[in-house]
Amino acid sequence: MASLRRTSRLYSKISPLLQGTRAVTQAPNVTQRRTFTASQPFPVAQYGGRFTVTMVPGDGIGPELMGYVRNIFRYAGVPVDFEEIQITKDSTEEEFANAVICIKRNGVALKGSIESKYGDMDGCSRNAELRTQLDLFANVLHCHSYPAVRSRYSDVDIVIIRENTEGEYSMMEHENVKGVIESLKIITRRGSERLARYAFEYAVRHGRKKVTAVHKANIMKLSDGLFLETCRNVAEEYPDIEFSDMIIDNTCMQLVARPQQFDVMVMPNLYGNVVSNVICGLVGGPGLLSGRNYGDHYAVFEPGTRNTGTSVAGLNVANPVAMLNAGCDMLEHLGLNSHSELIRNAINKTLNVDMIHTADLGGQATSLDVVQNIIKELQASTKDRHWDPALLQ
Ligand code: NAI
Repeated sequence: MASLRRTSRLYSKISPLLQGTRAVTQAPNVTQRRTFTASQPFPVAQYGGRFTVTMVPGDGIGPELMGYVRNIFRYAGVPVDFEEIQITKDSTEEEFANAVICIKRNGVALKGSIESKYGDMDGCSRNAELRTQLDLFANVLHCHSYPAVRSRYSDVDIVIIRENTEGEYSMMEHENVKGVIESLKIITRRGSERLARYAFEYAVRHGRKKVTAVHKANIMKLSDGLFLETCRNVAEEYPDIEFSDMIIDNTCMQLVARPQQFDVMVMPNLYGNVVSNVICGLVGGPGLLSGRNYGDHYAVFEPGTRNTGTSVAGLNVANPVAMLNAGCDMLEHLGLNSHSELIRNAINKTLNVDMIHTADLGGQATSLDVVQNIIKELQASTKDRHWDPALLQ
């Protein structure tokens, strides 16, 4: 019963997405090319030149890493005030609702990952619920190699654009007959179209040449078939961008064998999760890359693979770089590009020149060693900026 109740509650939430999706076999209309949603101004909370951003530390290493972000932002003189609101696996519905209201008020959030309890039939993933409630339909993950981080490939540069609110994450499961579970994967034309358009617009704006749609349309002919068909239709509106598609199983093999062939990749939710983790693993693991979640109105920034890192929490061993990169993404979103550049340069110098690496990258440094080195680099570069006699004349 509990699972049925949950199913109907979630169905009512996702049902607007289902409108107009019955005739999946009909040829879709290629709609007029619409304005790219992300170009519309996001509402952000700014008072007296300072921004207010929601901080959700989450479980595991999240709170520890947020402390490092605050510290580094202070040294870089970042004009951001955090409104901290905690959601963990044990938070109540009311606490969760307050966090959503807080993000809606500020428009922007920096977030750690929230643990999802296995086997708790009434609780759904708070991470997924947050993305659905804020309608953060696109997850953008820029996967690139760091020159001094030892990894299988040194020339990976791929952008994954993952559907973030539907697919296998609809969390609609039920047991109609004892011992038989049905799990609904929801793919809609509207959801697929806005994601595909996001991917092509991203490619145009960032000078990228190719978009690859990842799917399993040979088996899931209706759901993934609709996703693929929609991507193909949107691709016709972008003749300057090369379009191809690839089945998810082959994609995983091609990624580990020859990742250089990919540029921008667009895919449904669960494939996006798997592929993100494969590529992050290829370029150095969960401690490096950040992920961006965008909807029409709100933006949430977090570490790319969304692990909680519970096993390394509180031990001063977690790599702080992924969360710091998420912080830099957030600064760019707010238009604070010079602050972001300052911090990114200090991170890159720490990793690639000073070679201060935590255990996940094969080094012996602690989290604090990395943070202190970033602060040292920040101080060195700001000192040059303000006290260089040549600049003062
Ligand atoms: P995990 O949190 O155990 O992390 C996987 C591995 O990566 C661990 O060995 C961890 O120590 C390491 N790691 C992660 N971040 C690190 C860092 N910054 N520096 C060094 N090492 C780092 O991952 P798992 O088992 O996948 O997930 C644990 C919990 O997180 C579960 O409750 C899961 O539901 C939740 N989760 C939620 C996701 C979401 O977006 N919904 C995605 C992934 C996990």
